[in-house]
Amino acid sequence: MLFTDLSVNYLNQKMNSSQSTINQVVNIKNLDHFFGEGKLKKQILFDINLTLNTGEVIILKGPSGSGKTTLLTLMGGLRSPQSGSLLVFGEELVGANKNQLVQIRRNIGYIFQDHNLLASLTARQNVQMSLELHHNIKTSEIEQRAIALLESVGLGEHINYHPQNLSGGQKQRVAIARALVSHPKMVLADEPTAALDSKSGRDVVELMQQLAREQGCTILIVTHDNRILDVADRIVELEDGKITLDREQPAIDN
Ligand SMILES: Nc1ncnc2c1ncn2[C@@H]1O[C@H](COP(=O)(O)OP(=O)(O)OP(=O)(O)O)[C@@H](O)[C@H]1O
Ligand SMILES: [Mg+2]
Repeated sequence: MLFTDLSVNYLNQKMNSSQSTINQVVNIKNLDHFFGEGKLKKQILFDINLTLNTGEVIILKGPSGSGKTTLLTLMGGLRSPQSGSLLVFGEELVGANKNQLVQIRRNIGYIFQDHNLLASLTARQNVQMSLELHHNIKTSEIEQRAIALLESVGLGEHINYHPQNLSGGQKQRVAIARALVSHPKMVLADEPTAALDSKSGRDVVELMQQLAREQGCTILIVTHDNRILDVADRIVELEDGKITLDREQPAIDN
C-alpha cells in the first residue's frame, strides 16, 4: 500500500511558515516526474505549475493514465519528487528525507476509492485510529471527537457498526470522518465517489465541501465524475501529464 501513515495530526504542528506565501498550501513549480530506469524510463508529468490555496476545494480531472494519482501522491508526500520545486505547507519536498515526508503526512488526510477501513474495527474505532497515534490526546477526548464527527457525517446511529454492515456510501463517510477527525490542513481524495451511485457520490462530496468550509482545510478531489464539478472552487485538468486547464469557478449561492 502506498500510504502507510494515516496518522494525520490535528494539534498545530508548527510547520515552517517563513514563506510569505502563507495562504498557499501547495506550490508546485516546474515539476517533472519519471517512472522507470534506463531505456524504460518514461516521463509521466511535464513542467507542472500549480498552487493550492488555504480553504479551497479543487477538482483534478483528466483521462485515465494522465498522471492524476501520481501528482496527488507527490503532493501528499507519499512519493518523492525528483525535480522542480514542490512546497507543501511551505516545506520543500524535492530533496526531503523520509522523516520530513512523514512530518508532512501528519497534516494531511487521505481518502481513497476503496475507503481502506479496517474490517475488524467498528466505525468509531476506525475513526479513532488516526487520533490514537497522538499520545497527547486523552482517550476520552478521542472517543468524543470520533463520535461527534461520525454524527456530523450522518452516522450517529452507526458508530458501533463494522464496515461489512455498512453501505458503500456509509463506508466512504466513515473514511471521510477518519480523514478529518485530526483537523488536517489538507485532504487528498483520489476518486472518493468511484464506488458510489450518483446520489451517494454527490452527498459524500458535498459533505467534504461542508467540512472543508467548517475546518478551513484545503481539499483536492480527483474525479472522473463531471456531475460533481460544481462543488469545486477550481477545476484543474491534466492531459498526458500536462496541465491543460486551471480555472476558478464562480461561487454559486445556495
Ligand atoms: N509505479 C509506477 N511505475 C511505472 N509507471 C507508473 C507507475 N504508476 C503509474 N505509472 C504510469 O504513469 C501514468 C500515470 O498514472 P496515474 O496512475 O498517475 O494516472 P491517473 O491519471 O491517476 O489514471 P486513472 O484515472 O486511471 O486512475 C500511467 O501511464 C501509468 O501507467
Ligand atoms: Mg488514478
